[in-house]
Amino acid sequence: MTETASVNCAQPTPRARFQDQHPGLFYLDPDERDELAAYLKNAGFLSMDEQVQSVTRAGDGNMNCTVRVTTRPRSFIVKQSRPWVAKYPQFDAPWDRALREIEFYQLVTGQPGVADRMPRLLHADRAARLMVIEDLGASKDLSGIYRGATLNLDTVDTLADYLSRLHLDFRGQPARHPLPNREMRALNHAHIFEIPLEANNGLALDDLLPGLGAAADRLRSDLDYVSTVRRLGAEVYLADGDTLVHGDFFPGSFLETPAGPKVIDPEFACFGRSEVDGGMFLAHLLLGAQPPGIAARFLKRYRPPADHDVNVMLQLAGIEVMRRLIGYAQLPLACGLEERRSLLRRSRDLVLHPSLDLILAS
Ligand SMILES: Nc1ncnc2c1ncn2[C@@H]1O[C@H](COP(=O)(O)OP(=O)(O)OP(=O)(O)O)[C@@H](O)[C@H]1O
Ligand SMILES: [Mg+2]
Repeated sequence: MTETASVNCAQPTPRARFQDQHPGLFYLDPDERDELAAYLKNAGFLSMDEQVQSVTRAGDGNMNCTVRVTTRPRSFIVKQSRPWVAKYPQFDAPWDRALREIEFYQLVTGQPGVADRMPRLLHADRAARLMVIEDLGASKDLSGIYRGATLNLDTVDTLADYLSRLHLDFRGQPARHPLPNREMRALNHAHIFEIPLEANNGLALDDLLPGLGAAADRLRSDLDYVSTVRRLGAEVYLADGDTLVHGDFFPGSFLETPAGPKVIDPEFACFGRSEVDGGMFLAHLLLGAQPPGIAARFLKRYRPPADHDVNVMLQLAGIEVMRRLIGYAQLPLACGLEERRSLLRRSRDLVLHPSLDLILAS
Protein backbone atom coordinates (compact mmCIF):
# COMPACT_ATOMS: atom_id res chain seq x y z
CA MET A 1 0.00 0.00 0.00
CA THR A 2 2.62 2.50 1.08
CA GLU A 3 4.82 1.48 -1.81
CA THR A 4 2.05 1.91 -4.37
CA ALA A 5 1.22 5.33 -2.93
CA SER A 6 4.80 6.47 -3.09
CA VAL A 7 5.15 5.28 -6.68
CA ASN A 8 1.96 7.05 -7.70
CA CYS A 9 2.97 10.28 -6.00
CA ALA A 10 6.54 10.31 -7.27
CA GLN A 11 7.48 13.60 -8.92
CA PRO A 12 9.24 13.28 -12.26
CA THR A 13 12.93 14.03 -11.96
CA PRO A 14 13.99 17.47 -13.25
CA ARG A 15 15.61 15.68 -16.18
CA ALA A 16 12.41 13.80 -17.09
CA ARG A 17 10.39 16.99 -16.70
CA PHE A 18 12.77 18.92 -18.96
CA GLN A 19 12.82 16.24 -21.63
CA ASP A 20 9.08 15.91 -21.52
CA GLN A 21 8.61 19.67 -21.97
CA HIS A 22 11.41 20.09 -24.50
CA PRO A 23 11.90 16.85 -26.38
CA GLY A 24 15.10 16.63 -28.36
CA LEU A 25 16.90 19.43 -26.50
CA PHE A 26 20.13 18.71 -24.69
CA TYR A 27 19.85 18.51 -20.88
CA LEU A 28 23.06 19.33 -19.02
CA ASP A 29 23.61 16.70 -16.33
CA PRO A 30 26.85 16.99 -14.31
CA ASP A 31 26.82 13.21 -13.77
CA GLU A 32 26.70 12.34 -17.49
CA ARG A 33 30.18 13.11 -18.75
CA ASP A 34 29.98 11.08 -21.95
CA GLU A 35 26.66 12.60 -22.90
CA LEU A 36 28.09 16.11 -22.51
CA ALA A 37 31.21 15.16 -24.51
CA ALA A 38 29.05 13.81 -27.34
CA TYR A 39 26.89 16.95 -27.30
CA LEU A 40 29.92 19.28 -27.43
CA LYS A 41 31.46 17.29 -30.28
CA ASN A 42 28.24 17.32 -32.22
CA ALA A 43 28.03 21.08 -31.69
CA GLY A 44 31.53 21.42 -33.14
CA PHE A 45 32.88 22.88 -29.90
CA LEU A 46 35.10 19.90 -29.05
CA SER A 47 37.34 18.30 -31.61
CA MET A 48 36.69 14.61 -32.25
CA ASP A 49 39.89 13.55 -30.48
CA GLU A 50 39.49 15.85 -27.43
CA GLN A 51 38.75 13.76 -24.34
CA VAL A 52 36.58 15.11 -21.52
CA GLN A 53 38.38 14.24 -18.31
CA SER A 54 36.06 15.65 -15.69
CA VAL A 55 32.78 17.46 -15.24
CA THR A 56 32.35 19.10 -11.83
CA ARG A 57 29.98 21.65 -10.37
CA ALA A 58 31.54 25.06 -10.94
CA GLY A 59 30.49 26.72 -7.69
CA ASP A 60 27.66 27.52 -5.35
CA GLY A 61 25.11 28.88 -7.83
CA ASN A 62 21.43 28.24 -7.17
CA MET A 63 19.63 29.38 -10.28
CA ASN A 64 21.29 27.42 -13.07
CA CYS A 65 23.26 24.29 -13.80
CA THR A 66 26.88 25.47 -14.07
CA VAL A 67 29.75 23.03 -14.53
CA ARG A 68 33.49 23.10 -15.13
CA VAL A 69 34.67 20.78 -17.89
CA THR A 70 38.31 19.79 -18.20
CA THR A 71 39.81 18.21 -21.28
CA ARG A 72 43.50 17.52 -21.70
CA PRO A 73 44.46 20.88 -23.16
CA ARG A 74 41.89 23.16 -21.54
CA SER A 75 38.95 23.79 -19.24
CA PHE A 76 35.76 25.76 -19.74
CA ILE A 77 32.43 26.47 -18.04
CA VAL A 78 29.07 25.21 -19.34
CA LYS A 79 25.95 26.91 -17.98
CA GLN A 80 22.34 26.00 -18.75
CA SER A 81 19.14 27.57 -17.47
CA ARG A 82 16.06 25.50 -16.77
CA PRO A 83 12.45 26.70 -16.62
CA TRP A 84 12.89 26.54 -12.82
CA VAL A 85 15.50 27.30 -10.16
CA ALA A 86 18.08 24.51 -10.49
CA LYS A 87 18.48 24.06 -6.73
CA TYR A 88 14.73 24.30 -6.03
CA PRO A 89 12.93 22.76 -9.03
CA GLN A 90 9.57 23.43 -7.36
CA PHE A 91 10.09 27.17 -8.07
CA ASP A 92 9.57 28.24 -11.68
CA ALA A 93 11.97 30.80 -13.11
CA PRO A 94 12.25 32.41 -16.56
CA TRP A 95 13.84 29.84 -18.84
CA ASP A 96 15.02 32.52 -21.26
CA ARG A 97 17.43 33.98 -18.71
CA ALA A 98 20.29 32.20 -20.47
CA LEU A 99 19.32 33.99 -23.69
CA ARG A 100 19.58 37.33 -21.94
CA GLU A 101 22.98 36.37 -20.52
CA ILE A 102 24.16 35.28 -23.97
CA GLU A 103 22.89 38.55 -25.48
CA PHE A 104 24.76 40.54 -22.85
CA TYR A 105 28.02 38.71 -23.58
CA GLN A 106 27.54 39.18 -27.32
CA LEU A 107 26.85 42.87 -26.82
CA VAL A 108 29.98 43.56 -24.77
CA THR A 109 32.33 41.36 -26.83
CA GLY A 110 35.49 43.30 -27.63
CA GLN A 111 34.51 46.34 -25.55
CA PRO A 112 37.64 47.57 -23.75
CA GLY A 113 37.31 47.74 -19.96
CA VAL A 114 34.21 45.53 -19.99
CA ALA A 115 34.87 42.39 -22.03
CA ASP A 116 38.37 42.01 -20.55
CA ARG A 117 36.86 42.00 -17.03
CA MET A 118 34.48 39.15 -17.84
CA PRO A 119 34.75 35.60 -19.18
CA ARG A 120 34.58 35.29 -22.96
CA LEU A 121 31.53 33.65 -24.50
CA LEU A 122 32.86 30.64 -26.40
CA HIS A 123 29.70 28.96 -27.66
CA ALA A 124 25.95 29.54 -27.45
CA ASP A 125 23.07 27.12 -28.03
CA ARG A 126 20.01 29.33 -27.81
CA ALA A 127 17.54 26.47 -28.30
CA ALA A 128 18.90 24.59 -25.27
CA ARG A 129 19.45 27.83 -23.26
CA LEU A 130 23.06 26.82 -22.85
CA MET A 131 26.36 28.67 -23.10
CA VAL A 132 30.02 27.78 -22.90
CA ILE A 133 32.18 30.48 -21.33
CA GLU A 134 35.83 30.95 -20.51
CA ASP A 135 36.98 29.38 -17.23
CA LEU A 136 38.37 32.10 -14.97
CA GLY A 137 39.81 29.49 -12.62
CA ALA A 138 38.47 27.84 -9.50
CA SER A 139 39.07 30.91 -7.37
CA LYS A 140 36.77 32.32 -4.72
CA ASP A 141 34.21 35.03 -5.21
CA LEU A 142 34.32 38.10 -2.94
CA SER A 143 31.67 36.87 -0.46
CA GLY A 144 34.41 36.74 2.19
CA ILE A 145 33.45 40.33 3.03
CA TYR A 146 30.39 39.05 4.88
CA ARG A 147 32.70 37.19 7.25
CA GLY A 148 35.36 39.72 8.07
CA ALA A 149 37.40 40.21 4.88
CA THR A 150 38.06 43.75 3.67
CA LEU A 151 38.18 44.61 -0.03
CA ASN A 152 41.47 46.01 -1.14
CA LEU A 153 41.51 49.38 -2.82
CA ASP A 154 42.80 48.06 -6.15
CA THR A 155 39.83 45.70 -6.29
CA VAL A 156 37.44 48.58 -5.59
CA ASP A 157 39.08 50.70 -8.31
CA THR A 158 38.87 47.87 -10.83
CA LEU A 159 35.20 47.25 -10.12
CA ALA A 160 34.42 50.98 -10.25
CA ASP A 161 36.24 51.26 -13.59
CA TYR A 162 34.35 48.26 -14.99
CA LEU A 163 31.04 49.79 -13.92
CA SER A 164 31.93 53.19 -15.38
CA ARG A 165 32.76 51.67 -18.76
CA LEU A 166 29.65 49.48 -18.73
CA HIS A 167 27.43 52.42 -17.85
CA LEU A 168 29.00 54.91 -20.26
CA ASP A 169 30.05 52.98 -23.34
CA PHE A 170 26.71 51.51 -24.41
CA ARG A 171 24.63 54.67 -23.99
CA GLY A 172 22.07 55.26 -26.66
CA GLN A 173 22.14 51.70 -27.86
CA PRO A 174 18.92 50.17 -26.51
CA ALA A 175 17.21 50.67 -29.87
CA ARG A 176 19.97 48.81 -31.66
CA HIS A 177 20.46 46.15 -29.00
CA PRO A 178 17.23 45.67 -27.13
CA LEU A 179 17.78 43.97 -23.78
CA PRO A 180 14.71 44.73 -21.69
CA ASN A 181 14.95 41.41 -19.82
CA ARG A 182 11.47 41.96 -18.44
CA GLU A 183 10.94 38.50 -17.01
CA MET A 184 14.08 38.51 -14.89
CA ARG A 185 13.48 42.08 -13.76
CA ALA A 186 9.95 41.16 -12.72
CA LEU A 187 11.33 38.24 -10.70
CA ASN A 188 13.92 40.45 -9.01
CA HIS A 189 11.42 43.25 -8.52
CA ALA A 190 9.15 40.92 -6.58
CA HIS A 191 12.03 39.65 -4.42
CA ILE A 192 13.51 43.09 -3.73
CA PHE A 193 10.61 45.53 -3.57
CA GLU A 194 7.56 43.46 -2.65
CA ILE A 195 7.92 40.07 -0.98
CA PRO A 196 10.24 41.16 1.89
CA LEU A 197 7.69 43.79 2.98
CA GLU A 198 4.68 41.45 2.87
CA ALA A 199 3.60 40.23 6.30
CA ASN A 200 2.65 36.69 5.30
CA ASN A 201 5.38 35.90 2.81
CA GLY A 202 6.10 32.43 4.16
CA LEU A 203 9.59 33.28 5.38
CA ALA A 204 10.17 32.32 9.03
CA LEU A 205 12.68 35.02 9.98
CA ASP A 206 12.80 34.03 13.64
CA ASP A 207 14.00 30.58 12.57
CA LEU A 208 16.94 32.32 10.90
CA LEU A 209 17.61 34.55 13.87
CA PRO A 210 15.25 34.98 16.85
CA GLY A 211 14.08 38.60 17.00
CA LEU A 212 14.50 39.28 13.29
CA GLY A 213 10.76 38.86 12.70
CA ALA A 214 9.86 41.71 15.06
CA ALA A 215 12.49 43.95 13.48
CA ALA A 216 11.02 43.22 10.04
CA ASP A 217 7.48 43.90 11.28
CA ARG A 218 8.53 47.33 12.53
CA LEU A 219 9.78 48.27 9.07
CA ARG A 220 6.73 46.75 7.36
CA SER A 221 4.41 48.88 9.43
CA ASP A 222 6.23 52.09 8.45
CA LEU A 223 3.93 53.31 5.70
CA ASP A 224 6.25 56.06 4.41
CA TYR A 225 9.03 53.52 4.04
CA VAL A 226 6.87 50.91 2.33
CA SER A 227 5.31 53.37 -0.11
CA THR A 228 8.72 54.85 -1.02
CA VAL A 229 10.14 51.39 -1.65
CA ARG A 230 7.18 50.53 -3.85
CA ARG A 231 7.48 53.77 -5.80
CA LEU A 232 11.19 53.25 -6.47
CA GLY A 233 10.51 49.69 -7.59
CA ALA A 234 7.99 50.82 -10.16
CA GLU A 235 9.57 54.11 -11.23
CA VAL A 236 13.26 53.27 -11.16
CA TYR A 237 13.92 49.54 -11.04
CA LEU A 238 11.38 48.60 -13.68
CA ALA A 239 11.99 51.71 -15.80
CA ASP A 240 13.69 51.28 -19.13
CA GLY A 241 16.75 53.44 -19.49
CA ASP A 242 19.74 54.22 -21.62
CA THR A 243 22.32 52.49 -19.48
CA LEU A 244 23.52 48.92 -19.80
CA VAL A 245 23.09 47.56 -16.29
CA HIS A 246 24.69 44.35 -14.99
CA GLY A 247 21.77 43.75 -12.63
CA ASP A 248 23.47 41.58 -10.00
CA PHE A 249 26.51 43.69 -9.13
CA PHE A 250 27.40 42.21 -5.75
CA PRO A 251 30.33 40.17 -4.30
CA GLY A 252 28.84 36.83 -5.42
CA SER A 253 29.31 37.99 -9.03
CA PHE A 254 32.98 38.97 -8.58
CA LEU A 255 35.62 36.28 -8.96
CA GLU A 256 39.17 36.77 -7.74
CA THR A 257 41.72 36.00 -10.44
CA PRO A 258 45.47 36.63 -10.76
CA ALA A 259 44.53 39.55 -13.05
CA GLY A 260 42.26 41.11 -10.40
CA PRO A 261 38.50 40.76 -9.95
CA LYS A 262 36.37 39.61 -12.87
CA VAL A 263 32.62 39.94 -13.19
CA ILE A 264 30.30 37.04 -14.01
CA ASP A 265 26.60 36.19 -14.16
CA PRO A 266 24.86 38.98 -16.11
CA GLU A 267 21.54 37.09 -16.26
CA PHE A 268 19.68 40.11 -14.82
CA ALA A 269 21.29 42.55 -17.28
CA CYS A 270 19.12 45.11 -19.06
CA PHE A 271 19.04 48.64 -20.41
CA GLY A 272 17.83 50.49 -17.35
CA ARG A 273 19.01 52.92 -14.69
CA SER A 274 22.63 53.16 -13.56
CA GLU A 275 21.60 53.63 -9.91
CA VAL A 276 20.60 49.95 -9.76
CA ASP A 277 24.21 48.70 -9.95
CA GLY A 278 25.83 51.39 -7.81
CA GLY A 279 23.12 51.04 -5.17
CA MET A 280 23.57 47.31 -5.00
CA PHE A 281 27.35 47.62 -4.68
CA LEU A 282 27.09 50.17 -1.85
CA ALA A 283 24.51 48.03 -0.05
CA HIS A 284 26.89 45.09 0.06
CA LEU A 285 29.67 47.27 1.45
CA LEU A 286 27.32 47.98 4.37
CA LEU A 287 26.24 44.34 4.69
CA GLY A 288 29.89 43.31 4.63
CA ALA A 289 30.76 45.92 7.31
CA GLN A 290 33.43 47.47 5.11
CA PRO A 291 35.26 50.52 6.47
CA PRO A 292 33.71 53.75 5.09
CA GLY A 293 36.93 54.43 3.16
CA ILE A 294 35.95 51.61 0.78
CA ALA A 295 32.67 53.25 -0.20
CA ALA A 296 34.43 56.61 -0.42
CA ARG A 297 36.97 55.10 -2.80
CA PHE A 298 34.25 53.60 -4.99
CA LEU A 299 32.27 56.84 -5.12
CA LYS A 300 35.38 58.83 -6.01
CA ARG A 301 36.40 56.46 -8.78
CA TYR A 302 33.05 55.53 -10.36
CA ARG A 303 32.12 57.76 -13.34
CA PRO A 304 28.33 57.68 -13.65
CA PRO A 305 26.31 58.74 -16.69
CA ALA A 306 24.98 62.30 -16.75
CA ASP A 307 21.46 61.37 -15.64
CA HIS A 308 22.68 59.44 -12.58
CA ASP A 309 20.95 60.51 -9.35
CA VAL A 310 23.05 59.92 -6.24
CA ASN A 311 20.06 60.04 -3.92
CA VAL A 312 18.23 57.39 -5.91
CA MET A 313 21.36 55.22 -5.77
CA LEU A 314 21.44 55.62 -1.97
CA GLN A 315 17.75 54.77 -1.70
CA LEU A 316 18.27 51.62 -3.78
CA ALA A 317 21.23 50.74 -1.55
CA GLY A 318 18.92 50.98 1.47
CA ILE A 319 16.35 48.73 -0.18
CA GLU A 320 18.95 46.11 -1.11
CA VAL A 321 20.19 46.07 2.51
CA MET A 322 16.62 45.46 3.66
CA ARG A 323 15.84 42.65 1.24
CA ARG A 324 19.07 40.80 2.06
CA LEU A 325 18.17 40.90 5.76
CA ILE A 326 14.45 40.11 5.67
CA GLY A 327 13.85 38.66 2.19
CA TYR A 328 14.42 35.26 0.63
CA ALA A 329 17.89 35.90 -0.84
CA GLN A 330 19.80 35.62 2.44
CA LEU A 331 23.58 36.05 2.61
CA PRO A 332 26.15 34.10 4.65
CA LEU A 333 26.33 36.96 7.16
CA ALA A 334 28.29 36.62 10.37
CA CYS A 335 26.62 39.53 12.13
CA GLY A 336 24.05 39.13 14.91
CA LEU A 337 20.65 40.62 15.70
CA GLU A 338 21.86 44.00 16.98
CA GLU A 339 23.90 44.67 13.83
CA ARG A 340 21.01 43.58 11.64
CA ARG A 341 18.61 45.87 13.47
CA SER A 342 21.04 48.70 13.04
CA LEU A 343 21.33 47.92 9.30
CA LEU A 344 17.53 47.96 9.01
CA ARG A 345 17.49 51.39 10.65
CA ARG A 346 20.14 52.47 8.16
CA SER A 347 17.95 51.12 5.37
CA ARG A 348 15.07 53.26 6.57
CA ASP A 349 17.26 56.37 6.75
CA LEU A 350 18.70 55.75 3.30
CA VAL A 351 15.27 55.30 1.75
CA LEU A 352 13.54 58.21 3.48
CA HIS A 353 16.42 60.66 3.99
CA PRO A 354 19.18 59.69 1.54
CA SER A 355 22.51 61.26 2.37
CA LEU A 356 26.09 60.27 1.63
CA ASP A 357 26.86 60.59 5.35
CA LEU A 358 24.86 57.41 5.92
CA ILE A 359 27.35 55.54 3.77
CA LEU A 360 30.55 57.41 4.56
CA ALA A 361 30.25 57.79 8.34
CA SER A 362 31.30 54.69 10.27
N1 LIG B 1 33.55 31.81 -16.03
C1 LIG B 1 33.72 31.22 -14.85
N2 LIG B 1 34.95 30.87 -14.41
C2 LIG B 1 35.12 30.26 -13.22
N3 LIG B 1 34.12 29.96 -12.38
C3 LIG B 1 32.88 30.28 -12.76
C4 LIG B 1 32.60 30.92 -14.00
N4 LIG B 1 31.27 31.11 -14.11
C5 LIG B 1 30.75 30.60 -12.99
N5 LIG B 1 31.69 30.10 -12.17
C6 LIG B 1 31.50 29.47 -10.85
O1 LIG B 1 30.20 28.93 -10.80
C7 LIG B 1 29.41 29.59 -9.83
C8 LIG B 1 28.01 29.74 -10.35
O2 LIG B 1 28.04 30.54 -11.52
P1 LIG B 1 26.91 31.62 -11.78
O3 LIG B 1 26.91 32.63 -10.69
O4 LIG B 1 27.11 32.14 -13.17
O5 LIG B 1 25.62 30.69 -11.72
P2 LIG B 1 24.14 31.00 -11.28
O6 LIG B 1 23.41 29.74 -11.34
O7 LIG B 1 23.62 32.14 -12.10
O8 LIG B 1 24.32 31.45 -9.76
P3 LIG B 1 23.28 32.24 -8.83
O9 LIG B 1 22.29 31.28 -8.33
O10 LIG B 1 24.18 32.76 -7.73
O11 LIG B 1 22.68 33.31 -9.67
C9 LIG B 1 30.14 30.90 -9.56
O12 LIG B 1 29.88 31.39 -8.27
C10 LIG B 1 31.59 30.50 -9.73
O13 LIG B 1 32.08 29.87 -8.57
MG1 LIG C 1 22.88 33.95 -11.39
